[in-house]
Amino acid sequence: MRSLNVYQAGHQIGTLYDEQPLRFVYDTHWLATPAAQAIAPAFPLQAEPFAGGHVHAFFENLLPEGPVRRLLQASHHASTTFGLLRSVAGDTAGSLILLPPGELPKPPAYHITSWQHIAEQLRQGKAPTLGAQIQDDMRVSLAGAQAKILLTVLDDGRPAIPVGTAPSSHILKPDIQGIPGVWASALNETLAMQLADNLGLGTATAVYQADTRACLIRRYDRQTDAHGGLTRLHQLDLCQLAGVPSGLKYESDGGPSLAQCRYLLQEIGVPAKDLKRLLQWVIFNLLIGNHDSHAKNLSVLATPSGWQLAPFYDLMCTTVYPGLSRQFAFRIGGTNQPGQIGSSQIQAMASVLGMSPHYALGLARDIAHALPPALDKTIKALQTIVYPGTEHTLLERLAQRIKQETRKHGQRWGL
Ligand SMILES: Nc1ncnc2c1ncn2[C@@H]1O[C@H](COP(=O)(O)OP(=O)(O)OP(=O)(O)O)[C@@H](O)[C@H]1O
Ligand SMILES: [Mg+2]
Repeated sequence: MRSLNVYQAGHQIGTLYDEQPLRFVYDTHWLATPAAQAIAPAFPLQAEPFAGGHVHAFFENLLPEGPVRRLLQASHHASTTFGLLRSVAGDTAGSLILLPPGELPKPPAYHITSWQHIAEQLRQGKAPTLGAQIQDDMRVSLAGAQAKILLTVLDDGRPAIPVGTAPSSHILKPDIQGIPGVWASALNETLAMQLADNLGLGTATAVYQADTRACLIRRYDRQTDAHGGLTRLHQLDLCQLAGVPSGLKYESDGGPSLAQCRYLLQEIGVPAKDLKRLLQWVIFNLLIGNHDSHAKNLSVLATPSGWQLAPFYDLMCTTVYPGLSRQFAFRIGGTNQPGQIGSSQIQAMASVLGMSPHYALGLARDIAHALPPALDKTIKALQTIVYPGTEHTLLERLAQRIKQETRKHGQRWGL
């Protein structure tokens, strides 16, 4: 029976067995350790094994999706969730490392490279498998359908690619390729992330990396320890928390609704302020025209004071690209058509999230009023670092589009 050893912070905490369905069992030594913590609420600390759809969903959600997964399947001759995890799950979202028996997590090692080299590789189309084509002894896995590279940024600013099970500290997201009509998405994402940050929404730190023309995002699930090394914090995305595979990340496909997200967040014990943040996230996504805000774009992070809604990530104005979906990822007050979301839908969402309609509309008003000046400030700063031409054009289009979305929604909501 093939198996994978599951490690966390250098300890083997369990084993995943390649059975139908997948089976996970905690390590007995780990169970006896005071530091032992459940990897998710669905898997409480116990000696009995877990098997079934929720085990599959938990681990499948660690893998890339769509075209990136298909490339990994082809390059590793691994078509199953187990086979892919075996090949790539050395550095994942959160704290877990999966390795075949006989292999142990090694002291972190990195291949130092340069931004210019990565830029050249990107020009040659060599980014889709998280950087494995730049460095072939990488073993990294991160969810999402977009091509990205996991790396670490050294103190002197140079990038370094993790080798084996070494942790990455940053995610580099180049422009999305292969979706007709989508261009300069990395700059779009940088703008949306910085705008959310300027509005004080609690966002992962993102900058526009000038050489690669890509969005460089600091991982909030990595922390520098006293010796300058990186430690991993545990995190779960809302599909993992709901026990559904990544294919169900959209509510319209049967994935979690906002009501379920609220329930899951409360059940795991996030502080009350995080429900406010959830509402702010929905409002912000509507106001900037980000329709791709599905359940895998929300995560909870394990902190010393307990589970918290993680900083926001994967924000972008999708409506600036005519080919992308016109439907919002969640239903708000019964509709996923943004043009049909009025103040009564916002009020319905408020009660779904356990808030007074008055309070929710007040939060929406605050963001809608603060957004245009924050947008101007964010765009002005980006204009100083981007090239004239395409990138400037995108910033101008985004300025118009986001202000228009904000104005129209503000009117519909009676702000
Ligand atoms: N700053 C961050 N720190 C830690 N983990 C992150 C961060 N940003 C993203 N992640 C994790 O990586 C996953 C993929 O990131 P992201 O959502 O940006 O990719 P994507 O390919 O654009 O996704 P999608 O398929 O939604 O378009 C997320 O689901 C989350 O688990
Ligand atoms: Mg995403």
